[in-house]
Amino acid sequence: MNAEPDLSTTYLGLELKNPIIVGAGPLGDCRETVIALEQAGAAALVMHSLFEEQLHLEMSGREAHLEAHGESFGEATSYFPAAYEYTFKPERYLEHLRWLKKSVGIPIIASLNGTTPGGWTLYAEMLQDAGADALELNFYYPAIRVDESAAEVEKVLLDTITDVRSVISLPLAVKLSPFYTSLGHVARRAVSAGADGLVLFNRFYQPDIDPEKMETVSTLRLSSSNDLLLRLRWLAALRDKVDASLACTGGIHQPIDVIKSVLAGADAVQVVSSLLKHGPEHIEILLKKIRSWFQEHYYDSVHQLKGAMSMRHCPEPAAYERGNYLKIVQGWKI
Ligand SMILES: Cc1cc2nc3c(=O)[nH]c(=O)nc-3n(C[C@H](O)[C@H](O)[C@H](O)COP(=O)(O)O)c2cc1C
Repeated sequence: MNAEPDLSTTYLGLELKNPIIVGAGPLGDCRETVIALEQAGAAALVMHSLFEEQLHLEMSGREAHLEAHGESFGEATSYFPAAYEYTFKPERYLEHLRWLKKSVGIPIIASLNGTTPGGWTLYAEMLQDAGADALELNFYYPAIRVDESAAEVEKVLLDTITDVRSVISLPLAVKLSPFYTSLGHVARRAVSAGADGLVLFNRFYQPDIDPEKMETVSTLRLSSSNDLLLRLRWLAALRDKVDASLACTGGIHQPIDVIKSVLAGADAVQVVSSLLKHGPEHIEILLKKIRSWFQEHYYDSVHQLKGAMSMRHCPEPAAYERGNYLKIVQGWKI
């Protein structure tokens, strides 16, 4: 066995002691949990998002909320959470951010979650002033309208990034969905609009249908390692094509998932589902096993591994393209 491997990495210009970031979600809400996460070895934490919808409510009451969504396809605004249902009111969010900055040593990444440019993005500046080390902008847009073109959807994304960028000097990560007609092109334009990093990918939570009650049912199914493959492909494709940090989110459960993501090109990974399942201590187990893997394979550092299996560096880049599909569909014999 060789010496203790160096797991440090740089993400959004932040020096992280290892690549494991706690992703946006409820884990950052509870003070005790955050301390346990830091003790278990988390390298950074992304806070639960502040949502555009709640910021509209905060700014000018219910009317603004209706207005913001009045145009959208069949969106019944009564279906949205009321202001009190959001985990943190904006003021409490800023307070929690200040507490986090005072109480833990790891970088804290605040999160805004929305789908349109405009006044609500000014909250980015408040997050910066409250001490966030970086900001993550989650553009969670299901794009379900039939009268909206791909170009229009992309323009709204880019305008939103431009708005946020214009009010902060903090590093900015943009969390994307994989459902763009030309994702590589969108990624590049997001970086040109001001993103310092891309977070791949949002998991869209699909509503289920209850045929007995004739109702839609909101379901939250946690991810599994199966979710990772889509991310690996795009990390590998984008690693050498965009001048930005890359983080993987979606499907990081096992130590090997972290290693594969770094090999594909991730600077860091974000973990939520597996921590919700196993608790903060799971980070300690991941890190211990990652260190052992590095030692067993005679690797010294994350830096050495990063992007070694990106499209540019892997022995068979066609595997990330149509070649993989042809091979798979021809290979199944009955
Ligand atoms: C309960 C829950 C709450 C979440 N809240 C947010 C959020 O506020 N903002 C956000 O950008 N992502 C949110 N996410 C998405 C996660 O950050 C993450 O991208 C997704 O769960 C995929 O990672 P995983 O496979 O490790 O769970 C949430 C996920 C879960 C399960």
